[in-house]
Amino acid sequence: MSAPTAPKLVGQGIDRVDGRAKVTGAARYTAEIPMPNAAYGVLVGAEIGNGTLSSIDTDAALRAGAVAVYTHQNLPRVATVPVLPSAFGHSAPGQTFFPMQDTTIHYFGQPIAVVVADTFEVAQHAATLIEATYTAQPPMVRLDDGRDRQYLPDSIFAGLVPAAQSRGDFATAAAEAAHSVDATYHFAANHHNPIECSATAAMWDGDSVLVYDSTQGIVASQLTIAAYLGISPSRVRVVADYVGGGFGGKAMMWPHVTLAPLVARELARPVRIILNREQMFYGTGLREEQEQRITLVSDTDGRCTGLRHHKLSVTSPFDDWAELSLEVAGKAYAIANWEGRYQLVKGNTMTPTFMRGPGEASGMVALECSLDELAEQLGADPVELRLRNHAAVDPESGNRWTSDGYAECLRHAAERFGWGARNPVPGSHTDGNWLIGWGVGTAGYPVYEPGQPQRAHARLRSDGSLVVQAGTQEFGTGVATIASQVAGDAMGVPFDRVRVEIGSTDFPNIAAAVGSTGAAIVSSAVHIAGTQLLAQLVSIATADEGSPLHGRTSAEIEGVDGTLRLVSDPSIGETYSAVLQRNQLSDIETTGSWLPTPDPEAHGKLSFGAQFAEVAVDPELGLIRVRRLVGAFAPGRVLNAKLARSQVLGGMNWGLSQALMEGSLPDIRDGRWANSSLLEYLLPVNADAPAVDISFVEFEDSVLNPLGVKGLGELGMVGTAAAIINAVHHATGRRMREIPLRIEHLL
Ligand code: MOS
Repeated sequence: MSAPTAPKLVGQGIDRVDGRAKVTGAARYTAEIPMPNAAYGVLVGAEIGNGTLSSIDTDAALRAGAVAVYTHQNLPRVATVPVLPSAFGHSAPGQTFFPMQDTTIHYFGQPIAVVVADTFEVAQHAATLIEATYTAQPPMVRLDDGRDRQYLPDSIFAGLVPAAQSRGDFATAAAEAAHSVDATYHFAANHHNPIECSATAAMWDGDSVLVYDSTQGIVASQLTIAAYLGISPSRVRVVADYVGGGFGGKAMMWPHVTLAPLVARELARPVRIILNREQMFYGTGLREEQEQRITLVSDTDGRCTGLRHHKLSVTSPFDDWAELSLEVAGKAYAIANWEGRYQLVKGNTMTPTFMRGPGEASGMVALECSLDELAEQLGADPVELRLRNHAAVDPESGNRWTSDGYAECLRHAAERFGWGARNPVPGSHTDGNWLIGWGVGTAGYPVYEPGQPQRAHARLRSDGSLVVQAGTQEFGTGVATIASQVAGDAMGVPFDRVRVEIGSTDFPNIAAAVGSTGAAIVSSAVHIAGTQLLAQLVSIATADEGSPLHGRTSAEIEGVDGTLRLVSDPSIGETYSAVLQRNQLSDIETTGSWLPTPDPEAHGKLSFGAQFAEVAVDPELGLIRVRRLVGAFAPGRVLNAKLARSQVLGGMNWGLSQALMEGSLPDIRDGRWANSSLLEYLLPVNADAPAVDISFVEFEDSVLNPLGVKGLGELGMVGTAAAIINAVHHATGRRMREIPLRIEHLL
């Protein structure tokens, strides 16, 4: 191996390579990619939330110009109902129900027909003419209405996580404790609203299909579609040029993804299915309505000795799914006695799914607000109390973290926020009529690792340019930019000579970008591809009598800016092009493959951060305004300072949205979501966005992967909502336990 060179590109806040394409509209989403002779498929959803479809009349739709209508009567049966095959070494938990196989209606909006027409407009109109009759039963869509039917499953999440977990002895800890906080938090359901609604387009050529899909995992789409259709994955090619945000809603495979190729095959014509905004509330899962009860106990010094964290949430009729709200909350502090439990209620909803900070974001609201209460009881400073309870090791295993940085983040962010000037008495800070409150919350997120190799291909051409290919996709994170930086450093090629190609399953396998793993898995594979290719080039040069580096060992040589040279004397060397051209090689290539190496020490794996919020509350009107947010995060290596900041900026604003705005309200009469539009599902706009101050505390992590990347995307959202809710308490003296906080709750 040649001598490692210090990173030059990695870490820099380089602009997105696709930034111009995105702002000019040249970047195309799935629905915009031209397909000759394509027809449009529009889904028709059930108008009841529970029951059976008695009849469905498609005549009027066909008379209005639909070229075909598919219902349970004429849609071919799917070969299987798979859960998503995941590259994490096990099956990922997806919805195990596929619609239009029979007449049962499990949830409002469940597809009962696909109406196909030559234009989107005709298809949309014809879809309104489908006449269905039902035998309806009352739907269960509200936690309160199913409370008496709750149950404790063996496991949740497709069998991956036990529903009841514990360490130590909580009951004894509680009996012996000096202080105790017992509080129940309720969280409304949430729905994903990425800027691009989900869409899938399919075009058959013989027995092979090309699928354009708005997905967080092209390979996962490929494998899932193949399984549903009962064909080999080699017959399914999935392409995603650009995806307009996913946030978990495009991580699992939902019915429309398979319906497009299924209908296109029946019709022998390309078909494009686009969900509209309302259909996004019935088409891509949700963050489930839930209640979390926390009992947190401590000794006289505020050292927490026990934590009981019980969750009760709504799942679908077919899957035991709950977002993992207890896992990070159960490990974030040094608490010896812990008990966690996921109770479920079956409701008439889709199977819930990942939504940014899936579980961590809600679990840390309950925990961090409880810590705030404990601090108040003790008369302790909330920051000081957190430091007192910091988990120096993973409390679950007693093993060291791969890297930590929590205390540094907390101190650094507190300093930047000006926390030292805080008077703990609620209502003591004011600005005119406004009550000002300051609050803190901890961020934590697991580091997930793949169970299967992650791969990237690298090719150096004799003109000195480098092309890297990987089967990942751009959904807003800037992965191609990051991969270009990593490849440029690994191979010693200037940034503008690197091109990264992604978005096709023709490229080497990369797992779906879920759980904040995207940057880590892609950068690891690309780094290995780049270093392998450089080694290949070095061995060609050292074996070549015509090279000034002939006979040297690889350790003596470095690759910098497209030139191989001696580390000891940079004046001796030659360009990459010279090596290849003299050897009559048009190019050299390699595939890098990365799997985490076994970790004999079984380190704890968690990313940490700290969040602070300032709110202003109008006590007469109940208005809550977030004035500023300050966050510090320790995500291991920061690959691109600008992109990292963007990720966290979005996450922190989403935390604001979680605390104060987002909530899907079920209509208990028919099971629909009563606010399924951007008019009524509240999201923050620029006028709501506070000043946000973000810093990274970089800690080297030498355990996880070649570049020490822990992952960042979701961390930025965790803890923000708790900081805001704690700030509202500081402003008003009110403990708010209903999320999102609403004006009427404050009055
Ligand atoms: Mo993330 S919620 O796993 O896309």
